Amino acid sequence: MPDVGVLDLPVLDPTDPTLRGERFHEVLADLAARGWLARTDLGYVILDREAGMTFLGDRRLAFPSVQILELQGVHDGPVYERTRDGLMAKTGAEHARVRRLVTPAFTPKATDRLRPRIREMLEQLWSRVAERGETEFVDDFARRLPSMVIAELLGLPGQAERLADWSDALQGVFKLTAAQQRAEIEAAYLDVYSYIEELVAERRARPTDDLVSTLARISEEGDRLTDDECVSLITSVIAGGTDTTQAQLAHGMRLFAEHPDQWKHLRADPSTAPRAANEILRYEPITPFTARLVVEEMQYRDVTFPRDTVVFVCTATANRDPGAFDTPERFDITVDRPNAPILTFGYGPHYCLGANLARAEIAETFAFLAPRMVDLEFAAPPVFGPPTGIYAMESVPIRFVRGDAGTSA
Ligand code: HEM
Repeated sequence: MPDVGVLDLPVLDPTDPTLRGERFHEVLADLAARGWLARTDLGYVILDREAGMTFLGDRRLAFPSVQILELQGVHDGPVYERTRDGLMAKTGAEHARVRRLVTPAFTPKATDRLRPRIREMLEQLWSRVAERGETEFVDDFARRLPSMVIAELLGLPGQAERLADWSDALQGVFKLTAAQQRAEIEAAYLDVYSYIEELVAERRARPTDDLVSTLARISEEGDRLTDDECVSLITSVIAGGTDTTQAQLAHGMRLFAEHPDQWKHLRADPSTAPRAANEILRYEPITPFTARLVVEEMQYRDVTFPRDTVVFVCTATANRDPGAFDTPERFDITVDRPNAPILTFGYGPHYCLGANLARAEIAETFAFLAPRMVDLEFAAPPVFGPPTGIYAMESVPIRFVRGDAGTSA
């Protein structure tokens, strides 16, 4: 069986600055039409949905957060150590043990309890733009809401801005520019860790009903969670819960401005917002690639993947697989796509811990805005970020006519 290294594969350069918007999807679709595998400088890209699910779901494979740093030339220091000890780098029983402790805070039911607060936050953000008829959506909503929600979850009112800045810096690990941004990422890790260590000590002394207090109690009980794991887990929630949802909200608004007919559908029935959220996540996954490390040599579809091979599963092509979705190339919030899970949140043991929360934030945001914003259009062209790491929107300037529901603000 041939080794993946000797195959003649097409090459993808994810750092190519022209890979944005429609062209990004065109290039990926072209690669997917040529076969299920492509090559990058850092590893192999799996373009096919079934193969992607097999790799993501296989418990023998690890999430290569440490290897992604090593491939970028970072082999030591605080970022390296913290990444090595983080939830994503853990495998098997060790991963399951830590993950089980934090899962109850992210069930659909637990997430539903945050919805009234999310709506209050949206009211607050809306009150600043309602009169204007214009919003730079990234600055006014997308960047603000997720960090406000994470601050609420962790019991840190007033710290939302700080959490957003930290998340931005911590996510640098996955952006393929970690070596250049090393000082900035290291400073963020040191800041977050010392802040959370103090916070955990304080919540042990004076517990409240937030996630930090719960984890602080569990780590105090002894062998279930070490102090370091407790701090690391809270850091993962800050790193994972802010930039991601921010980017997905921004792409959502960009998609609605590009597809006014879809905005009209949502305005006609805002209760369909959960389905709209799913379609935004399917059509433009802000994690277009999620990764795995082959820890023992494995064979799949007549190809040998040697130990230490890094594979990137392309969720962007998997989410547009015509075998799984009707009219996959159309952004259409009116179509029910009940049977095929989207891969935006990954799949298998590392499936996104915050998926329910992210869905709730996206659905609440667009259900809230739909009756308030009529006739959306771009006030200036939107600006796309690079699709490596988290595929963000840098700006989404929107003009709108204020709807009846928006006049109370
Ligand atoms: C639209 C928003 C989000 C997207 C697209 C997203 C995407 C992802 C993806 C692709 C993974 C890796 C899954 C895999 O490889 O199988 C992941 C893991 C993770 N996410 Fe999210 N995420 C989002 C929001 C959040 C939120 C709100 C939180 C906050 C709690 C969060 C926390 C995490 C954590 C802690 C992990 C690691 C899980 C593990 O290793 O067991 N994410 N996410």
